[in-house]
Amino acid sequence: MFFKSLAFLLAAGLIISLSACAEKNDVMKRVKDRGQIVVGTSADYPPYEFHKSINGVDTIVGFDIDIAREIAKDLGVELKIIDMDFGGLLAALNANTVDFVIAGMTPDEERKKAVDFSIIYYEAEQAVLIRAEDKNNIKTLADLKGKRVGAQQGSIQEEIAKEQISGANVLSLAKVPDLILELKTKKVDALVMERPVAKNYVKTNPELFITDIKVEDDEGGSAVAVKKNNPELVKAINKTLDRLMKDGKIDEFFAKAVELSEE
Ligand code: ARG
Repeated sequence: MFFKSLAFLLAAGLIISLSACAEKNDVMKRVKDRGQIVVGTSADYPPYEFHKSINGVDTIVGFDIDIAREIAKDLGVELKIIDMDFGGLLAALNANTVDFVIAGMTPDEERKKAVDFSIIYYEAEQAVLIRAEDKNNIKTLADLKGKRVGAQQGSIQEEIAKEQISGANVLSLAKVPDLILELKTKKVDALVMERPVAKNYVKTNPELFITDIKVEDDEGGSAVAVKKNNPELVKAINKTLDRLMKDGKIDEFFAKAVELSEE
């Protein structure tokens, strides 16, 4: 009798701890229970996500943020935004600090081993940004040989700079505005970043210039990252993205974000 109940208790304990474990990975359940979804982003990438003072209050805005709000709305929960370094986003996702990541993130093969991705919601090419005064000296990839090229830490641009610009000296920093400063103060000679972002920085920094240099980027787009084994959440996010794309909302959010960043 004693042993039977002991075995029963052990089995029950095992089941409870197993389901606690499964629950820990069930992001959708956690989100619904909390009534809130937490998004991780790196708000240094206008027009995707950036800081803007609105009525004197520092606010994170951008078309990614508008998309995140729609995702939360469709799930019927509130949105909380956590801003961090781009290079730390996927670790934060897997540590359950955030429930999903939206940060103009490219769903590349390496990342797909660690997390799952939604469909691609926005496509963009890469651009090489330089000082306008160098526009006659830096016109091709070969002109970057021996030059210092900056890219964001942990981004695909860091890899592109290392692999596709032969003989370049690559500097990686955590934050894009710091890279812009390095370029303006001649600590680096070029930066690699998504073209819409480069365009945005040129608008606010007319001493900078976008070259015609082309680099390869097979994945070429942004997707939302979710912790592995959460098919229900990925499905819900894809549904929202599909709706936004069909209704032309993403282009609308994009245009609004460009305008906001230029004001
Ligand atoms: N698309 C690039 C990547 O996935 C860069 C994204 C940078 N995003 C940002 N919010 N700083 O690596």
